[in-house]
Amino acid sequence: MAYYIGIDLGTSSIKLLLMDEKGKIYNEVSREYPLSFPQPGWSEQNPEDWKNAVFKGIPQLMEGFDSARVAGIGVGGQMHGLVVLDKNDKVIRPAILWNDGRTAVETDYLNGTIGEKRIAEFTANMAFAGFTVPKILWLRENEPERFLRIRKIMLPKDYVNYILTGVHSCDFSDASGTLLLDVKNKKWSQEMLDVCGVSMDCLPELHESYEVIGTLLPDIAEKLGLPKTTRVCAGAGDNAAAAVGTGIVGDGGCNISLGTSGTIFISSRDFIDLSNHAIHNFAHADGGWHLMGCILSAASCYSWLMDRVYKSPDYTLEQVPIVDEMLGRNRVFFLPYLMGERSPINDVDARGTFIGLAMDTGRADITQAVMEGVAFAIRDCVEVAKSLGISIYRSRLCGGGARSELWRKILANVLNIELEIPRLEQGPSMGGAILAMVACGEYTTVQTAIAKLVHVENTIKPEPELVSRYEICYRNFKKIYPALKELYKEIR
Ligand code: XUL
Repeated sequence: MAYYIGIDLGTSSIKLLLMDEKGKIYNEVSREYPLSFPQPGWSEQNPEDWKNAVFKGIPQLMEGFDSARVAGIGVGGQMHGLVVLDKNDKVIRPAILWNDGRTAVETDYLNGTIGEKRIAEFTANMAFAGFTVPKILWLRENEPERFLRIRKIMLPKDYVNYILTGVHSCDFSDASGTLLLDVKNKKWSQEMLDVCGVSMDCLPELHESYEVIGTLLPDIAEKLGLPKTTRVCAGAGDNAAAAVGTGIVGDGGCNISLGTSGTIFISSRDFIDLSNHAIHNFAHADGGWHLMGCILSAASCYSWLMDRVYKSPDYTLEQVPIVDEMLGRNRVFFLPYLMGERSPINDVDARGTFIGLAMDTGRADITQAVMEGVAFAIRDCVEVAKSLGISIYRSRLCGGGARSELWRKILANVLNIELEIPRLEQGPSMGGAILAMVACGEYTTVQTAIAKLVHVENTIKPEPELVSRYEICYRNFKKIYPALKELYKEIR
């Protein structure tokens, strides 16, 4: 029996999981780190904090277990973050994260001046503010001395992999979100490098997620108490890793994640040429591709409401008064754009908004509106997929928000799709462990691994009457953003 360590390098915390090749989980630990918002709409994190969290987290995970049995490590990480290293591989500035909205000018330049169509020819995607290339352009314009010192451009989980192995690597799923990858042909795009004024040797080597990039550096192995032979695989962007963890690989599967962000992830064996780039066209961690809609604030809207507004530590207690009769009948709406929005509206100026408050509005109506607003925003992404001819009848569900039975029910009925809850709900960290198993030869492909390791525990079915009530609510929700779009720019 061998152990595998799966790591989810999240936005608010790192989660580590210890699993054997049969899918038995032995231990899980999580460690929080700070997230800073130096200016409104900005979002940064210190890569040192990730490193320290790994250094403390792995020994904590292994307490009481035989470390000599650890064969592999796989990391799934928050995507798009810009980590820049100098000639000594030292971090030049705090990482600019996926939910940072400072790059409106650069995003407009890419989609407008260069043109969405050309950018999509090079990368299969259009530019979104959270992607890595707009951040590189921002750095070039606003911090030129730092820009000139760049020798390596890394993504968050790749920085962790570098610390573990000394190898600069990146996998195709995470590379897709940089806007530097020619996603169709799975190679870095020289055209996009030229746009950024960056040379090819600043980019790490590309791998499939389930390939070994190296073994632990001897001093790191010693520090972590792990064998020097421990293999590290290339890993994946957190959504691709989560999809592996919930068994969404191959053709036509769907996974929804209700984490800090909210995503809808549609897997495909082949590359699909898209006519509309409001959702992303990325490589998957199984060797194929996927389409993805991403809303920037999902479960984070709920924690914002609980922590900052209600100051209520008991997240589930707040849902108790929301009884079935209230569903689909709320007159309060919430637009979940606390960090601006990515898919499909691509608007860094949009902000969270309550509308429809009245004298009889109570705390439960507001809590419900927040949960529903997130579901409606995910529905916006589903509608784009539908407009591209993609029908979704069923999806797996994962992420912190998926633990709420109420949220599951709201989502299933707003989307009118069946939601399958996997027996183990540790999406990205489980995906990381599975990728490591494939890299170490326990399974020949990601597909064969998930066939053995992933099982659905229960299914939430939409209820026709509730679906129709939510249909009316969604139609109203859809009218709110267009009415406020210009105002957001004025009040920013
Ligand atoms: C996906 C995205 C987010 C982050 C969150 O495009 O930006 O889901 O990966 O960790």
